[in-house]
Amino acid sequence: MRHAVIMAGGSGTRLWPLSRAGRPKQLLDVVADDADGAHSLLEEAFGRLHAVLPPEQIWVCTAARYAEQVRRALPDLAADRLVLEPVPRDTANAAGLTAALVAEADPEAELAVVSADHVIRPVERFAAALETAYAALAVRPRSLVTLGITPTAPATGFGYVQRGPATEVAGVAEAASFREKPDLATAEQYLASGQYLWNSGMFVWRARTVLDALREHLPPTADALDRVVAAEPGADREAVLTEVFPTLPKISVDYAVLEPAARSGRVLVVDLDVDWLDVGSWPALAHTLDGDGAGNAVHGMAVLLDSAGNVVFSDDPEHLVALIGVRDSVVVHTADVTMVCPVADAERVKQLLAAVEAGH
Ligand code: GDD
Ligand code: MG
Repeated sequence: MRHAVIMAGGSGTRLWPLSRAGRPKQLLDVVADDADGAHSLLEEAFGRLHAVLPPEQIWVCTAARYAEQVRRALPDLAADRLVLEPVPRDTANAAGLTAALVAEADPEAELAVVSADHVIRPVERFAAALETAYAALAVRPRSLVTLGITPTAPATGFGYVQRGPATEVAGVAEAASFREKPDLATAEQYLASGQYLWNSGMFVWRARTVLDALREHLPPTADALDRVVAAEPGADREAVLTEVFPTLPKISVDYAVLEPAARSGRVLVVDLDVDWLDVGSWPALAHTLDGDGAGNAVHGMAVLLDSAGNVVFSDDPEHLVALIGVRDSVVVHTADVTMVCPVADAERVKQLLAAVEAGH
């Protein structure tokens, strides 16, 4: 049977000070909707899957400390479809844990793994690409399928998939290689070659296949997952998880599984032809906010004179942000932090946060 899981346990540090350890970006109401309100990226992700699968086939994997916030955000999520990590250990472990539990419920499960931090339009084309990816498993059951996006810039924050020969399934190619987060020179080369797609961070595979891949490429995780599923669901399993999870290597599924699997020719790629946005940084988030007609993206109360190209965000409805002659800047106000930086330096917010944490 087909299943899907939303990876929703990241901490979103580049959206500081809005995104906090206790309330990460996927749970913030940052996507403006038609009804003049806003909803979260997680709700977007769930809605997208809901267009394709019934709720009992949709899982969410997140860190235990976000459990309540996730339940509140997703009233349609079935109680036994929430997978909780005692501590986050990045996506290789999150995807592995989910695969182990999905395989326990349905040994033949075909599992889509999607991110919680994307805006995708139109949903119909996403649904069609997902359908194609599941269909690829009917022909190549042991493969790892990624959904690829045509790149528009030499971004260094994404994975790159090199398109290889076409397969027998329309719209599906073999991946000649997979490279996670290359440096700028390499990314420029990839873009110029025309052979590469961005890895969207969305995958489709059999739950069993990714567990086998972890056994091969990340044995400590595979061993830990064996112990987890050997324990009785409930308090026993919880205790094993709490013991083993913090000891696991912190690594993403892209490095741990996709890169090596592509080297042995087991990765396929489906073209995902959509407007796609990874809401990873302030300039990216600006695309989800309302524009003011003068090239500024604004959330909350703000008055701007002779200002353009700014991202202005006030998360306090009572707090006014007022600017004169400010250009190409990010201005963020929260209850306890005000952050201002040039748009061009927005990727460095992570570094700023580290400096803030070091200074406290
Ligand atoms: N459950 C859980 N546990 N989820 C996690 C964890 C974790 O420890 N860490 C991250 N996530 C979730 C995030 O919330 C997000 O929805 C998704 O997994 C991807 O994590 P990111 O941290 O946002 O990854 P990325 O954007 O740097 O890179 C990935 O996505 C890119 C496209 O958006 C990679 O797959 C890249 O190759 C890809 O290009
Ligand atoms: Mg991301």
